[in-house]
Amino acid sequence: MLRSYGKAIVLRFLPSNRVAELSPEEQAIYRQLDPARLPQHVAIIMDGNGRWAGKRSLRRFLGHQQGAESVQFVVETASRINLPWLTLYAFSLENNLRRPKTEVNFLMRLLRSYLVDNVERMNDNNVRIAYIGRTHELPSEVQEKMQWAAEATAHNNGTVLTLALNYGARSELVDAVRRLAREAAAKNVSLEHISEEDISRHLYTAHMPDPDLVVRTSGEFRVSNFLLWQMAYSEIYVTERFWPDFRGIHLLEAIADYQRRERRYGGLNKRQESDEAPIPDSFLVPR
Ligand code: FPP
Repeated sequence: MLRSYGKAIVLRFLPSNRVAELSPEEQAIYRQLDPARLPQHVAIIMDGNGRWAGKRSLRRFLGHQQGAESVQFVVETASRINLPWLTLYAFSLENNLRRPKTEVNFLMRLLRSYLVDNVERMNDNNVRIAYIGRTHELPSEVQEKMQWAAEATAHNNGTVLTLALNYGARSELVDAVRRLAREAAAKNVSLEHISEEDISRHLYTAHMPDPDLVVRTSGEFRVSNFLLWQMAYSEIYVTERFWPDFRGIHLLEAIADYQRRERRYGGLNKRQESDEAPIPDSFLVPR
């Protein structure tokens, strides 16, 4: 996967002294990390806004409002540690279809105001904003602000903040398969020749590495139709903390947990690989 964005990665790995901008508590966790093994891509399912509000006898929208604050805190910590890719599940296709109109409408207004209020801070932090999802179905005034924010941050070469908006992984696959089928027909390519690589290159995320780490807040053990193809080998970290209480330090804790894992991608570790003695057929039957 490195081949197609090698240049961009080299740029993003230029040494940065921005770690000094972390809070003392964040620095304490960062010091435990191996900077050479930072994940390249962290994706977050931001959940628990409604429960956060409910616990305080507040209306749900106030949870979303606080959740938008968390977004900016987390983005800034990500940029200080030079995390190349951060993807946030901000609004799913299912949210769009199944939530009350008033809540959907509030989320759209919140997104616009988040963009307007934070583009300057994104530029200060060298953050570029991008989007995945069926964004063309969002209200036109939201799309305009999204485009404006993307253009206003396009020159940045630090963390790429991707917001998944009106996003569903199954519909992403449907969109990819449609495009791929059209391409195969136009180029007269036999369907037998379609590879995993072909599918990956038609996903919304074609330009990104797959997420190394997927974080979900609020204690639910679900993937909720998020990046289903891309998270085939992702490490998953679930925290009980509701999203409005999630801060940069919690991102660093998730990364510390990730670094304690052993990723094998369906293979074996070095010690296991050394056991190459033949196995007789008599062991096929349990004794
Ligand atoms: C889940 O909480 C969260 C969402 C449906 C949307 C996420 C939105 C934000 C974090 C705020 C806006 C984001 C940006 C980028 C400005 P939930 O309502 O499902 O919580 P619950 O499961 O506790 O009800």
